[in-house]
Amino acid sequence: MADRNSGATTGMDRTRFKDIRERIARIPRVKLALTPTPFEEAPNLTRALGGPRIFIKRDDLTGVAFGGNKLRNLEFRLARAMAEQPDTVVVGLDIQSNSARQTIGACNKLGLKTILVLEGERPEVVQGNLLVDYLLGAEVVFAPTREAQRAALDEHAARVRAAGGRPHILNDNPMFDVASALAYLETTLELLEQLERTNVRSNAFYMSSSGKGQAGLVLGRRLTNADLMVHGITATDEFHVPSRTAAIANETLQVLGLDLRITEDEIVNDAGFVGAGYGIPSEASIDAVKLFARTEGMILDPIYTGKAAAGMISHIREGRYGKDDTLVFVHTGGTPSIFTWNSLWL
Ligand SMILES: Cc1ncc(COP(=O)(O)O)c(C=O)c1O
Repeated sequence: MADRNSGATTGMDRTRFKDIRERIARIPRVKLALTPTPFEEAPNLTRALGGPRIFIKRDDLTGVAFGGNKLRNLEFRLARAMAEQPDTVVVGLDIQSNSARQTIGACNKLGLKTILVLEGERPEVVQGNLLVDYLLGAEVVFAPTREAQRAALDEHAARVRAAGGRPHILNDNPMFDVASALAYLETTLELLEQLERTNVRSNAFYMSSSGKGQAGLVLGRRLTNADLMVHGITATDEFHVPSRTAAIANETLQVLGLDLRITEDEIVNDAGFVGAGYGIPSEASIDAVKLFARTEGMILDPIYTGKAAAGMISHIREGRYGKDDTLVFVHTGGTPSIFTWNSLWL
C-alpha cells in the first residue's frame, strides 16, 4: 500500500526533536513511568498472518502496578496536583478501570493516600483491576450512578478537609486530555528513534484510543513530518473520536506554544471494532488476544488492546499491507482484565 521509499525514519530532524522535547520539559512533571519502553519485533505473528512485519511498542511495561498507558500522563497530572501539596487524591472511575489501578500505584509512589469512588456495585468476585486497587491499599467506595459518584467525590474531599487533610479531586484536574497527548507525543518521538536504530521504516502505527493518546501520535507524526498513518481504534462509541482528537491536539499545541492546527479530517479512528459495547469483549478481540499470546507469548486484554489488535489484523487480512510493509502496534496495557474474563481462556 505505502510508498516503501518514504518512511518514518528518513531524514529525522534532530533539531525538531530537541525543540519538541524542550517544550515538553517546560511542563511540570513527576517521574513515574519506566521509559523508554521496549520495542520488539513480533515475527511469529507476522508468519501467522502471512502479512507485513509487525513491531510492538511495549507501553504495557511502564512499571508501576502492572504498567500501562496512563502512567505516562499521570506524570503531568500528578505534578499539577502536587502544586497544591495534597495528602490525598480522590478519584472517580469505573470498576474495572486500568486508569484507577495505575493512579493508585502512582499515588503510593508519591506518598499520597487514594480514595477511589467507583460507579456501580462491588461485584461478588473481586478480580482484575479491582483486586489490584484493594491490594494497593486504596480506600474503595461505590456509588450507584454517575451523579452519585460525582457527589461522593465532593463528600469524600470534604471529609478529608474536615479532618485536617488536603484532598485533590483528580477528576477536576484540568490536565487529563493534554497530559495524555503530551505523553503520546513523547512516545512517538521514542518510537521514531527506536525505528531508526532498528533501521526500519514503518507505514502505520496502530493504537487503542478514544482520542486522548491518539492526539499525541497525530501530533508526533505532524511535528516530525513522519510519513506514516496513525490508526486509532476506539473501544467505545461514546464519543465522535476524530473531532475529540483534533480538539485535544489543538489544545496541546497551544500549551506547547506551537502555531499549528490539526483538523478533524486528518484523524483516522475506527469505531468498527467496539463490538457489543464498551467493556464487553468481542469475538474478534478474544481471537486477537489468543493469537498474540499463542504466537508471541504476549498478553493483551479483551477490552482495549484486543480490539485494537483485531482492527489491525482485519486490515492485514483485507490485504491493505504487503510483506514489505511494516506496522507498529502500540500496546497500551490493560492486562489485569484477563483475570476478570477468566472463562474466555479456559
Ligand atoms: C489499556 C488501554 N488502552 C487504551 C486506552 C485508551 O486511552 P485514550 O483514550 O486515553 O487514548 C485505555 C483507556 O482507558 C486503556 O486502559
